[in-house]
Amino acid sequence: MIAQNDYEIADWLLNKSNFGWLELDIEFNLDAWKKETAAAKFVDHRGGEHPGWNSSCIHGIDVDKTGAWTNYGYEKEEDVPYQWTSISEHTPSIKGFWELFPYERYRRIRFMQLEPGGKISPHSDAPGKLPGEEDLDMLEFGVPINVAIIHPDDCHMTLEGHGTVPFKEGKAFIINIRNVHSFVNNSNTPRIHLIAHGIPGKRKDEFVELIARSYRKQNER
Ligand SMILES: [Fe+2]
Repeated sequence: MIAQNDYEIADWLLNKSNFGWLELDIEFNLDAWKKETAAAKFVDHRGGEHPGWNSSCIHGIDVDKTGAWTNYGYEKEEDVPYQWTSISEHTPSIKGFWELFPYERYRRIRFMQLEPGGKISPHSDAPGKLPGEEDLDMLEFGVPINVAIIHPDDCHMTLEGHGTVPFKEGKAFIINIRNVHSFVNNSNTPRIHLIAHGIPGKRKDEFVELIARSYRKQNER
């Protein structure tokens, strides 16, 4: 049974507040994930405005279909054939983690690389812009989870109104990317994160419990 209070916390945080980020109270095998980044086949992501930003899908339409589904000729999201890609055959630890995570199913799960000297220019990813996304309840729709796998020191994400996201290798965050955000990698090492977009579905209670537990932990510090 889920505590009513957990639901209220999660609903307030993801649907009503202007939060910056939430560090998830969750662990994964960082060494295994680092090794599994070798399976990525990176392609340029979102073009010239964001030099050095590359991506590779572990789950999605295909390895190189790294953009939102609207870029690939579908009229509604129900028609999109999301699946584990060939990359996932080489990422058993990562695939296993997302199978246990409280999402019933997934849209894209991608490695996201930012090359040395790379930049992600300021932009907002407000949900609700794509067809079928009006009046979203984020506890039903799901939110992207951003996991730092390889994160050099001189690499920073800035979120307008909130500051620098406290990324560290091995940490997973929900970031409120409605707020304008940007990234720079001033190091000599490629940064590799993973972003997973999923749908809570029949695991919504577990998802709500994770959000509430993480919120309490973050605010106890
Ligand atoms: Fe973004």
